[in-house]
Amino acid sequence: MPPTQKHLQTSISRTGKDYAELHNWIDDPELKTARHDFTKIWEFGAAIKAKYGAEGLQEYIEHLREDMDVKLMKIWGKDATTRDEALDYYGIRRKGRDYSLDMADIKMLQDAGMSAEDLDHSLKVAGRALDIARRVVSGSGAQVDLELVGRGALFHDLGKAKTHAIEHGLLGAEMGKALGLPDTINVIMEKHIRGGLTAAEATELGLPVKDYTLHKLEERIIIYADRLVDIIYDGLVKVDSAADAELRFENILSNEIKYGKNDITRERYFGYHREIQGLMGTPPQ
Ligand SMILES: [Fe+2]
Ligand SMILES: [Fe+2]
Repeated sequence: MPPTQKHLQTSISRTGKDYAELHNWIDDPELKTARHDFTKIWEFGAAIKAKYGAEGLQEYIEHLREDMDVKLMKIWGKDATTRDEALDYYGIRRKGRDYSLDMADIKMLQDAGMSAEDLDHSLKVAGRALDIARRVVSGSGAQVDLELVGRGALFHDLGKAKTHAIEHGLLGAEMGKALGLPDTINVIMEKHIRGGLTAAEATELGLPVKDYTLHKLEERIIIYADRLVDIIYDGLVKVDSAADAELRFENILSNEIKYGKNDITRERYFGYHREIQGLMGTPPQ
């Protein structure tokens, strides 16, 4: 994926729109140097705001921020304290700011050998999971770790870089550990298969018997988003929109064996659906 494409994906995760025209304009091969010049923000910013509105202007600044982030991470590498202080000071990675996907994480998936199709799925799950997480926060005031939701969703299928078999969860967790990802993310890869297996199911599928329960709300949001993304994009069931998939979720799982699998799996997904919809409060738009 060329660098410009990553900006499109992070824009989608923040706003639901890719702002492709704007990002392509910023990264114009001939003019990109001037368009990344911080002293020109005032001049370009006014024109961008006139054309794309305040959200577009914000996305232009996010584009510059993301590029700074990638470059500074390259320069500072492992000197973590100096790096984090400076990134916080300049607002490149402000602590506590609303989370958006990290360009370096997307690159890590590509470097691990993930196919373009699987990466596309992962980005869609991350965008959907973050959308749901924000609606949970505004609907219920629940504490949700947006970074864990975004990164956990982005990495949940890391193991697919090696296999699409059911072991991709287990393998992904091992790969994550080797890459130095936090355990909170590695367990999501391990547990996401069928939304958290019981001991009996693990035995039946030939997977190690352990606790696959999704203890954290963040984990349940990711698994719910993963199911929704399959429903929305597989084309197996016709849905009009993401909202439509949420509204008809139980019906679709009851009628489509691919999604519902069996009684135990289906009931588990129903549980996440009911809990999360309850927390979001208002019906999907
Ligand atoms: Fe998966
Ligand atoms: Fe998935």
